[in-house]
Amino acid sequence: MKVAVVGAGGLVGRRILSVLEESELPVSALILTGHSRSVGKTMWFRGGEHPVVKTDVESLRRVDAVLLATPTEVSRDIVPRLRGGPLVIDTSSAFRLHDEVPLVVPEVNGPVVRHHHGVIAGPNCSTIQMVMVLHPLHQRYGLRRVVATTYQSVSGAGYAAIRQLEDEVRERLASGKPVFTPLGDAFSYPIAFNVIPHIDAFTPDGYTREEMKMVLETRKILGLPDLPVSATAVRVPVFVGHSESILVETDLTPDPDEARSLLASFPGVVVWDDPGTKTYPLPIMAEGKSQVFVGRVRRDLSCPRGLLLWVVADNLVRGAAFNAVGILETAFNMGLLKG
Ligand SMILES: NC(=O)c1ccc[n+]([C@@H]2O[C@H](COP(=O)([O-])OP(=O)(O)OC[C@H]3O[C@@H](n4cnc5c(N)ncnc54)[C@H](OP(=O)(O)O)[C@@H]3O)[C@@H](O)[C@H]2O)c1
Repeated sequence: MKVAVVGAGGLVGRRILSVLEESELPVSALILTGHSRSVGKTMWFRGGEHPVVKTDVESLRRVDAVLLATPTEVSRDIVPRLRGGPLVIDTSSAFRLHDEVPLVVPEVNGPVVRHHHGVIAGPNCSTIQMVMVLHPLHQRYGLRRVVATTYQSVSGAGYAAIRQLEDEVRERLASGKPVFTPLGDAFSYPIAFNVIPHIDAFTPDGYTREEMKMVLETRKILGLPDLPVSATAVRVPVFVGHSESILVETDLTPDPDEARSLLASFPGVVVWDDPGTKTYPLPIMAEGKSQVFVGRVRRDLSCPRGLLLWVVADNLVRGAAFNAVGILETAFNMGLLKG
């Protein structure tokens, strides 16, 4: 199978290459493309060195599958020009809510891959780790309502955001004074030693687009178009790994012990939950891993059928690259690619 990774030198693109390398997919040819910063560099894949070249849509049309790890506006431009060509797996938000585009987390709704019309979307990183936990709970107890608050790392905003956090931390420690002016364009305020309750643009009703992605994508993936979901998305000064505090209200009364064991038996979910030994997931423990980690599972004190959970995952690996390669594997195993 001939594969192209567009945006290969970005945060997600690099992880896609690593996950692809570890997969058993038979990759016979690999094209790596970028735009500016990464063009001319080389990257290793299965023992061979591959140059990152400028993105050229005509050469992308000649491969079997294109993985897009590009900004949303770039995906929006490239995807229509690939129509009728390779299978496109897009990690951006450009097409996630389009009716004809499957929005896929393989462990949750993998079979919908079959209904693709050339493009399959991977969800937002915060959505992926949330639905991995909501799905098994829904199967057992039935979901009635979901309320989530996120603690999202700066890498969720790409390479420039990591740079901004590093620069501001250095400045704060060197000067000994708080940094009040952001040292970069990734965030409107300094992110070092700070917390920003605002990710992506605001919508007219006071939510942000990031929050609405969690609402709308969750409903689409779970096939529950009327599920009441609301979210507050918060940026925190962590390099990698998103954390979420989730309140789930269900139809049947959930039992925390049973919930822990059914979550632990769901593929890709790991339960770390023992208050006695201070065992709970942390972003530094999730970094580099492809699982979703759950802890602090407990009964909600404010509603009888409520369960509270703390959910952590590597946003770049589990929240993007592992998911995208998982979609490719699913499509390959269904015989939807030549291979
Ligand atoms: N970061 C996350 O946690 C996460 C999670 C889920 C989904 N996503 C989505 O994944 C996508 C990539 O995010 P990221 O965090 O990896 O961003 P990033 O680190 O800023 O990387 C963006 C990549 O896109 C390339 N690019 C920019 N303009 C391009 C163009 N016109 N043609 C071809 N390539 C172009 C860049 O190439 P150069 O390096 O050559 O400039 C770079 O490699 C975004 O759509 C994002 O929403 C991100």
